[in-house]
Amino acid sequence: MTPSLNGTQRVALVTGAAGGLGREFAIALAARGHRVAGLDLADMSGTAERIPGDRFLPVRADVTDPDEVGAAVEEAAARFGALHIVVNNAGIYPPIPFEKTTLEDWRRIMRVNLDGPFLVSRAALPHLRSAGWGRIVNIVSAVVFLGPPDLVAYTTSKAGLVGFTRALASAVGSDGITVNAIAPGLTRTATAARTTGADGGFDRVRALQVVPATEEPRDLLSTLLYVVDEGSGFLTGQTINVDGGSAKH
Ligand SMILES: NC(=O)c1ccc[n+]([C@@H]2O[C@H](COP(=O)([O-])OP(=O)(O)OC[C@H]3O[C@@H](n4cnc5c(N)ncnc54)[C@H](O)[C@@H]3O)[C@@H](O)[C@H]2O)c1
Repeated sequence: MTPSLNGTQRVALVTGAAGGLGREFAIALAARGHRVAGLDLADMSGTAERIPGDRFLPVRADVTDPDEVGAAVEEAAARFGALHIVVNNAGIYPPIPFEKTTLEDWRRIMRVNLDGPFLVSRAALPHLRSAGWGRIVNIVSAVVFLGPPDLVAYTTSKAGLVGFTRALASAVGSDGITVNAIAPGLTRTATAARTTGADGGFDRVRALQVVPATEEPRDLLSTLLYVVDEGSGFLTGQTINVDGGSAKH
């Protein structure tokens, strides 16, 4: 098995691991020697085939369903004997003009993007506490700094997740658990290309950046590995913006 840089192998749970950023996060953690459970509604065989079999466990669950989340977390912890790292990555970002946003649209976005991290973190926490070490990483978005016009509900949900990150960091810090958020800019995944990136969206966002390139999933991996590193215990409650310099804060 490939060792992690400092030799400590942990057990991670990555939500939304079937594709996009979550798949790349799962692969990067496994490549560091961590064992990884992927949680998703969708088929994770494309992720599984890029990770050696003994290091990846796909678990089907809806992050908005407390029973499914509880069962998935227990299955992951039972299979690997512990749980240390949680990456709350599953999320939806349908672009909807504000006046056309129905209450059901609004609630669906809040359910997946806010209830999901709440339910997954709450279910995972006893395992992190009993290990006396943990890393919770919430994937938010640079929209919390930029406030784009067609993503009002999404921006609200991710800003809520920034608040969740800060408050939960305070609640669990004494247990050796850090809680941080990573804010990607518009990043080339299939969903981003189909929705936000359509009609020249990638070009428009690139023009706002100081880095003259479209952000790729690989541009986020070093930040994830840094946040979950053994040496990052003093980093907590923070939102790290990785968007090529569109928002500077
Ligand atoms: N791609 C970008 O430009 C970008 C930018 C900033 C932030 N983000 C955030 O990064 C995360 C991943 O984005 P992506 O582009 O990889 O999206 P994606 O659509 O490729 O991946 C999201 C994954 O989450 C899963 N998922 C959705 N709802 C779920 C549910 N209820 N239960 C379980 N799994 C569910 C999907 O099946 C999918 O596999 C999201 O939280 C998104 O808001 C993405």
